[in-house]
Amino acid sequence: MVAGDGGVNVEVAVDAHAELGEGPLWDEPSGRLVWVDILASLVHRFSPDTGTDEIIDVGQPVGAVASRTTGGFVLAMRDGFGLLDTDTGDLQMIAGTEVHVTGNRMNDGKCDSAGHFWAGTMAFDQAPAAGALYRLARDHSVEKMIQDVSISNGLCWSANDRSMYYIDSPTQGVDVFDFDAASGALSNRRRLVEIPEADGLPDGMTIDEQGYLWVALYGGGAVHRYSPEGQLDQTVELPATQITSCTFGGSEFRDLYITSATQELSAQNLAAQPHSGALFVCRPGPAGLPANRYAG
Ligand code: BGC
Ligand code: CA
Repeated sequence: MVAGDGGVNVEVAVDAHAELGEGPLWDEPSGRLVWVDILASLVHRFSPDTGTDEIIDVGQPVGAVASRTTGGFVLAMRDGFGLLDTDTGDLQMIAGTEVHVTGNRMNDGKCDSAGHFWAGTMAFDQAPAAGALYRLARDHSVEKMIQDVSISNGLCWSANDRSMYYIDSPTQGVDVFDFDAASGALSNRRRLVEIPEADGLPDGMTIDEQGYLWVALYGGGAVHRYSPEGQLDQTVELPATQITSCTFGGSEFRDLYITSATQELSAQNLAAQPHSGALFVCRPGPAGLPANRYAG
């Protein structure tokens, strides 16, 4: 057990030393927390009941994962979207995104309420505006929804489905769009939360049942909770600086799982924060919501 400084007790669930732990997802059918190590091309499945963490090597960088309604997972990978059968380990690529752009890979992703999987891209070297946000429809067709994105991150939707929240990390904030759930169309982009550079880069994000946003702060060693109006409401401090994403899980959706990374840390920093790259868990109070599943 590691005590956080922000009043919330934070535990190490898996001391994985991941290079770039990301994309936590509570998979309800299996009662497991699925997450990825993007640069190590790994999908992890952590069982809180047994304490075991299973690892599947998917052979290329994997930015995000979502459960499918029919079982198994859809993955956002370096070359595009793939379907993973966890029983056999089979991976089937179903749609390319930027196969011609060798310097890019996919990053954060999530499903909307209609069962489409949204995931964005970024340049391996983080070149500005090299990426985009895509939507993989249920019929496996792919549409570009936002262009000129630098580091596509942190997407989620309001409970009434009228808003989509989005983070392009180097812009230092959370944006909100009007969302048309029937067509998936986005409009009226505006800034909801401005995050000072001293707090870190906004990275992955989730929404709780009160409509508040939980934002992981890369380089900032914390997760911030913001009200739907954009006011900072609560801070969870972590014993590692490279905090990448978070999601609620567990039987009551009250366990906040938080991923982290070892990348971009000096040997000295790694020694000072030995749990960098861990999957953390804490109970900050509010409950989250079940993740939407991919219906294709
Ligand atoms: C990306 C990392 C990046 C981090 C901070 C992550 O989503 O995968 O490459 O360093 O965000 O912006
Ligand atoms: Ca991320």
